[in-house]
Amino acid sequence: MDNTRELHDSSGRENRAPLRIPGRAELLSILSPSLTAPFQFTTQRASVELVPGQPTQLLVYRAEQAGNTFLNPSLVVQRNTTLAVDLFNHLDEGTTIHWHGLDVEWTMDGHPLHTVAPGATYQYRFVVRNRGGTYWYHSHAYERTAQQVYHGLAGFLLVEDEEQRRLARALDLTLGETDIPLLLQDKFLDAQGQISYPTDSESQAMGVEGTTILTNLTINPILPVTTRLYRFRLLNGSNARIFRLAFLKQAQQDPLPFWIIGAGSLLDRPYQVKEAFLAPGERVDVLLDIVPFAAGEMITLKSVAFDPMHHEMSMEMPMGGMDMDNQSSMHEPHTSMNALSLASGQAFSLVQFLVRERVPYDRILPASLTTIEPIDIQEATTRPFILSVQEDGPLMRWLINGLTFVPEEDPIIVRKNTTELWEIRNEARSMPHPMHLHGFQFQVVDRANSPGQVASLRVDDAGRMVTDLGWKDTVLIWPGETVRLAIHFAHPYPTEQRYLFHCHILEHEDTDMMLNCKVV
Ligand code: C2O
Ligand code: CU
Ligand code: CU
Repeated sequence: MDNTRELHDSSGRENRAPLRIPGRAELLSILSPSLTAPFQFTTQRASVELVPGQPTQLLVYRAEQAGNTFLNPSLVVQRNTTLAVDLFNHLDEGTTIHWHGLDVEWTMDGHPLHTVAPGATYQYRFVVRNRGGTYWYHSHAYERTAQQVYHGLAGFLLVEDEEQRRLARALDLTLGETDIPLLLQDKFLDAQGQISYPTDSESQAMGVEGTTILTNLTINPILPVTTRLYRFRLLNGSNARIFRLAFLKQAQQDPLPFWIIGAGSLLDRPYQVKEAFLAPGERVDVLLDIVPFAAGEMITLKSVAFDPMHHEMSMEMPMGGMDMDNQSSMHEPHTSMNALSLASGQAFSLVQFLVRERVPYDRILPASLTTIEPIDIQEATTRPFILSVQEDGPLMRWLINGLTFVPEEDPIIVRKNTTELWEIRNEARSMPHPMHLHGFQFQVVDRANSPGQVASLRVDDAGRMVTDLGWKDTVLIWPGETVRLAIHFAHPYPTEQRYLFHCHILEHEDTDMMLNCKVV
């Protein structure tokens, strides 16, 4: 089968395709919605050439503006302006749009209780109150999110504000040229180039990981670059795959240093790292310095090998008695029923950057990017959560505090304007779960009992990694770990709000590893 080609990390240029870049291609192209009129988003089928000569049927959000067609556009919106989108659902099943990371009223948030039926229209109207940064939108259809996103229903939402403009001016960055959003995904493509989505119970329990890696829906992409600073806004838009990101110079083992400047919105300052984990739903904004390179040199953005810690299957492991010191060692990769699967934690490349020519560039990284006030946790009450697995014969189900999702039940009730500490413990016999809260950005307070591959990236006494700093909406919790989040439940809406708290492995979310969180 042709797809095995992606399994080999050949650095040959022959099979490389030009990276789709927002701003040029019809797919992912930049759309700045008008401030005076709503624009229409139609969910529908579209065929796009992912594999040359074999158009793939995708599900897309289509918009029209000034005679141009946009598919899954990268929406660029100014902070404190109103986004007005009319969703026309031209699918044969219900759907919703969720604005991931944006603090919007729950009726605008894509909750399953606001499902848009086939043929129906829904008016999304909200003020974009969030800080400037990298957010995204995707389907949140009740029990169908995983399939709809896997088939394509996702795009970037970039919020602009003064701080973002200041950074762009300081470093001379232009969206779509030197500031490039990168949507990282994996899919199963069959011999005809069509997406095939496995629905067997093991795939559903573990989360679906594909054998073809796509960046901006390009297979084996290459991007010509020049010798300057680049901003890459990396979004893990895959259903279940975790990436361990690193930039490597051709034929060198040691990863290149790069800067993390944001995890959505900006961090207080740039932090230099050599690698970062990125879980489904998370974003990381990075700067890569290509100034020291020579024309003709090649840099590869890779996901390097890691231990996926799929410990739910390890029956030989005594409950609660895992050797926490020994977890950076590589386990046997998790073997799925699909012999061609690209195992969790296996290495592969995402994009190659070919230095086309040397150019003069003398901009200097700003020492500070923004101010982040820590949430005051003096008076906060602690709310414990346990992530666990329930086995029912061969079937596995993931639970939050022993519960699963019921659309009209409210197992979490918080008071408006209060602050809580959410202490989330993932059982040792588990797998990593990226936990995501709608409606409120939070701060990671600390991380305890982390496995070696996470602990080795810690940058403070609280056990946090750079990707834990700043404002977050999704946080990865490894087996055995306990992560505490500070959340301030303030919002400007007059009524009670009902938001979702769930695992962003979309198969887990669809099999109800999700709870309502009501703000009263
Ligand atoms: Cu990005 Cu509730 O999800
Ligand atoms: Cu969300
Ligand atoms: Cu999960």
